[in-house]
Amino acid sequence: GQAAKGEYDHFMMKEINEQPTALAQALEGRIDPDSGRIALSDFEPGTFEDVESVQFVACGTSYHAALYGSLTLKQAGVQSAALLANEYSVSAPPIDENTLVIAVTQSGETADTLNALRHAADQGAMTVTVTNVVGSTAAREADEALFIRAGPEIGVAATKTFSSQAVMLSLLGQRIAADQFGEVPSDLDSLLPDLESMPESIESILETTSARSIAERYEGSQSYFFIGRGLGFPVALEGALKFKEITYEHAEGFASGELKHGPLALVTPDTPVFAVFTGEEDEKTLKNAEEAQTRGAPVVAICPDGHRAVDVADAHLEIPETDADLAGLLANVQLQLVSYYAADLLDRPIDKPRNLAKSVTVE
Ligand code: AGP
Repeated sequence: GQAAKGEYDHFMMKEINEQPTALAQALEGRIDPDSGRIALSDFEPGTFEDVESVQFVACGTSYHAALYGSLTLKQAGVQSAALLANEYSVSAPPIDENTLVIAVTQSGETADTLNALRHAADQGAMTVTVTNVVGSTAAREADEALFIRAGPEIGVAATKTFSSQAVMLSLLGQRIAADQFGEVPSDLDSLLPDLESMPESIESILETTSARSIAERYEGSQSYFFIGRGLGFPVALEGALKFKEITYEHAEGFASGELKHGPLALVTPDTPVFAVFTGEEDEKTLKNAEEAQTRGAPVVAICPDGHRAVDVADAHLEIPETDADLAGLLANVQLQLVSYYAADLLDRPIDKPRNLAKSVTVE
């Protein structure tokens, strides 16, 4: 009801605004303030010491978080892959008792993800569920569960839970690497302060965003494209999924470097390109964005102020400076807001888009 939405017109906007709190809750007690290390006392010491490779299974937005988690794990030196849960039964890489399978699912009830989890357990893998719902089927069935503590999410479009999943997966990845290699990954020291200031950074985005005017400016376009590389790639995919889900407009996410391998044929002055900059090979992404611009497409750069892309782009959505591991998550907040305002301009039923359910319990 209206009461539960408080000052907001939609649960989605309420939940976008709950992200600083959700992240603070997710991090609470999980970083040891004395040593500055991840504690994750959710798991016994050495839980992951025998893990040789990790497979993430998930669908939709949770799959994008899984892709994010898998990339951070690879950067920490652990062999890992993110797989669509609904493809898993036909495409799972080999599994043995040293394989860790991590189901990422907000609801813990997604049939495709439960099937993948059961398949993995049957094959002898160790299983972990990363979920928002305590007592959910996936939490109960896996060997271990890690709760993201985002609070209830009512909007069909996942927002705060994506941010919380991604942050928890990066912590879990550090913990897996620490157990596997017997030492904490060295880049953690630089990551932790930025992780702890995530709530503040998101707060500043929410206060200063120009997402509404961007949505107005590009209303009525033929298609909306989202590009990113590295950790910006799952964010581009997520930006496009959110956009199509709630606006019903055509949107696609691409790896920046893939544009020239086909999608560039679709690019016209009527297809704005949202480019996510994370600090990782940004020069290349900028070059890819300029290739679209040459074909007349307006480019919206999502990056910190003072970034070179700001001078090149037609429009700018600002994010605070942060670690390259986290910049994409801040960019994602700006993209959530663009989708929201674009859907609102079109008067869509934002919290309950047609044909979709919050939790998909059928195969
Ligand atoms: C997200 O906006 C979607 N509604 C959808 O992709 C969702 O993330 C997917 O169905 C997975 O749900 P789960 O996280 O509850 O497993």
